[in-house]
Amino acid sequence: MQSPAWHCAVRPLHHLCLAVSLLGTGLALAAEAQPAQEAAAGVGRRAPAPLTGPQVYRQVCIACHAPPGVGGAPPLGSAEAWAPRIAQGVDTLISHALTGFTGKTGVMPRKGERPDLSDAEISSAVRYMVEQAGQ
Ligand code: HEC
Repeated sequence: MQSPAWHCAVRPLHHLCLAVSLLGTGLALAAEAQPAQEAAAGVGRRAPAPLTGPQVYRQVCIACHAPPGVGGAPPLGSAEAWAPRIAQGVDTLISHALTGFTGKTGVMPRKGERPDLSDAEISSAVRYMVEQAGQ
């Protein structure tokens, strides 16, 4: 059998050839290459488990929602600020947090300016903030 290296001696096809050789080397190598590719693509940047509500709050939302609230944001733990908002229904609050919302007091940016977070992570943060308002 000819070694894959022989094919790769043909310069212009070098990369293609290398890829074909790699493919030909079998599943074991492909399986090994997988995590490395993911890491290189930045997929491994985040822990596999989704962030919890409190984690998202502390990493993102706290910038504006920490008491007393920045730029008109309802502060964490304030029943007074949150009650009229919660009256709209938690689903509405979640959709406002996901898509962004301009209200009477300011601008809630889409996902708190963290579009890389999943909808579930943002929803957890909203639920956490609602809980903290004592509702
Ligand atoms: C850059 C500042 C900023 C960040 C960061 C931010 N918010 Fe807000 N948020 C606001 C402001 C300002 C409002 C009030 C908007 C209004 O009602 O006028 C608001 C309102 C809200 C509301 C109430 C919406 C409604 O319908 O009354 C929710 C829920 C909310 N934010 C969730 C979050 C979550 C969850 C995060 C973190 C992922 C977050 N926010 C991050 C500024 C921010």
